Amino acid sequence: MERIKLIKGDITKLEVDAIVNAANRTLLGGGGVDGAIHRAAGPQLLEECKTLNGCDTGSAKITKGYRLPAKYVIHAVGPVWRGGNHNEEQLLAGCYTTSLQLAKENNCKTVAFPNISTGVYRFPKEKAAVIAIHAVRDFLNRNNLPETVYFVCFDNENYEIYERLLKEKSLITKRKLPII
Ligand code: AR6
Repeated sequence: MERIKLIKGDITKLEVDAIVNAANRTLLGGGGVDGAIHRAAGPQLLEECKTLNGCDTGSAKITKGYRLPAKYVIHAVGPVWRGGNHNEEQLLAGCYTTSLQLAKENNCKTVAFPNISTGVYRFPKEKAAVIAIHAVRDFLNRNNLPETVYFVCFDNENYEIYERLLKEKSLITKRKLPII
């Protein structure tokens, strides 16, 4: 059974155990998917986020989902793309791996990811998708939880990239750097 699924649409609508947020280091909200998640979850989400003291780039922290259909929100902080020589690829991979680890620790069977860093943070979309798919496949190969991971694409460009890449058997040859 394929454990990775592709969806087009709004991540705030999904009835999964956890949705991942593309947050910033303050964890105090913002625009894009972050704004949409905070609006849908309601003000209690910000109250819990205030207790977390922010989060490092490349890592993630978990909260409850409040008014969302999802039980948890995993707030991951992606890197701002600064040309590719500032550890951006490893930091983005870290977002996916840390989020999956938190999902596993909280017994989540289903987790949905947005395309972290590919909006305001300007990470090249195809490069980000290769890293995301590789990190998720690698984690799922080594762990039984989560059972299923959803990539949720909001824009057509990302959806088409993921649709094409997920059909490919191995992305390893496309990667320059190993994911730790
Ligand atoms: N559901 C799923 N994906 C969405 C949604 C949605 N409702 N809305 C937007 N996207 P961005 P970043 C997609 O800019 O690049 C915030 O202000 C969008 O099409 O939300 O990681 C934070 O507070 C894009 O593909 O996140 C940070 O300051 C993807 O989500 C900063 O933006 C990510 O775009 C983070 O920037």
